Amino acid sequence: MQLIDGKKISLELQEDIAIEVTQMMASGLKQPHLAAILVGNDGGSETYVASKIKACERVGFKSTLIRLPDYVTEEKLLQAVHDLNNNNDVDGFIVQLPLPRHINEHKIIEAVKPSKDVDGFHPINVGRMVLNLPCYVSATPYGIVHLLSAYNIETSGKNCVVIGRSHIVGSPMSILLAKNTALGNCTVTLCHSKTKDLISHTLKADIIICALGSPEFLKGNMVKDGAIVIDVGTTRVASTETKSGFKLKGDVMFDEVAPKCSYITPVPGGVGPMTIASLIKNTLLAAKKDIYK
Ligand code: GUN
Repeated sequence: MQLIDGKKISLELQEDIAIEVTQMMASGLKQPHLAAILVGNDGGSETYVASKIKACERVGFKSTLIRLPDYVTEEKLLQAVHDLNNNNDVDGFIVQLPLPRHINEHKIIEAVKPSKDVDGFHPINVGRMVLNLPCYVSATPYGIVHLLSAYNIETSGKNCVVIGRSHIVGSPMSILLAKNTALGNCTVTLCHSKTKDLISHTLKADIIICALGSPEFLKGNMVKDGAIVIDVGTTRVASTETKSGFKLKGDVMFDEVAPKCSYITPVPGGVGPMTIASLIKNTLLAAKKDIYK
C-alpha cells in the first residue's frame, strides 16, 4: 500500500507557481490577486479560507478577504460579488460555501463573472468543462486528477466508482474521469444515496472516489484488493485529543481499507491540500488571461 501525499504534491505545485509569479512580476506584470468572500463564522469555512489565504502568501499572490455577517441580505452579498466582478485589480475570487439558508446559492454563483470564477462553479465553466472547452475546472476534482497523474496512476480502461453526486465534487469528478483524455478514459459509475447494492459496484472498482461527506462510510469489505481509494471527506468530529477540540474524519474507514489498497489518500493531508493548489493554479490562469482572453 502506498500513501498518496497530497500535502507534498500541493506544496510542489505551489513552488512552481511561486517561481512563475516571480518571473511575471520581474517582467512588469501585476501581482496576481485572489479575493474570497466569507459569510458568517462557520468553523470549517474559516479554516478553509485561512488556508487559501496562506497559500496566496506562499506563492506571492495578493489576497483580499471580505467578511460578511451570517445575517447579510442576498442583495448585499450580490453587491459584494458585483464589486469584485468590476474590480480590475482582482483576477479571480471565490464565495466560500455553504452559505446561510436564506441566501440562494445558485443565484450567487451565477452572479460571478465566469472569467473570475476560479472555483469553476458557474454554469458557463461547468458547461465548458463538459464540452472540453477552456474553462476553470472546480478545484477538488482538478486536484484529484493531478494527484493521480503525479503518482503515474493509469486511469484508461479502469472501472471507477464515484460515491456522491455533489455539484462541487462527485458530479464534475465523474465527468472528468470519463473524458477521452490522458487522465480520463475510465468507465465511471456514479453512485449516490439511491444506489441499490452499493457494495456490488465498489467491489468491481479499480478506483473509488469517496465524496459523500459521511465519516468512515467506506469499509474494508467494500473494497477489492489492489484498489486505489481517494477520500474526499472532511467532516469535523469532536475530539479530546486535539487542542482545537475536533478532528477531521474522512469518508473512508482508513484502518480497514488501507491494507487492501495499492494507493490511498489520508485525511488530512490527501485531497484537501490539492483543492488549495488547484484554486491557486486557476487564479494564476486568470491572472495570465489563459482561459478567457
Ligand atoms: N466549500 C467546500 N469546498 C469549497 C470550494 O472548493 N470552494 C468554495 N467556494 N466553497 C467550498
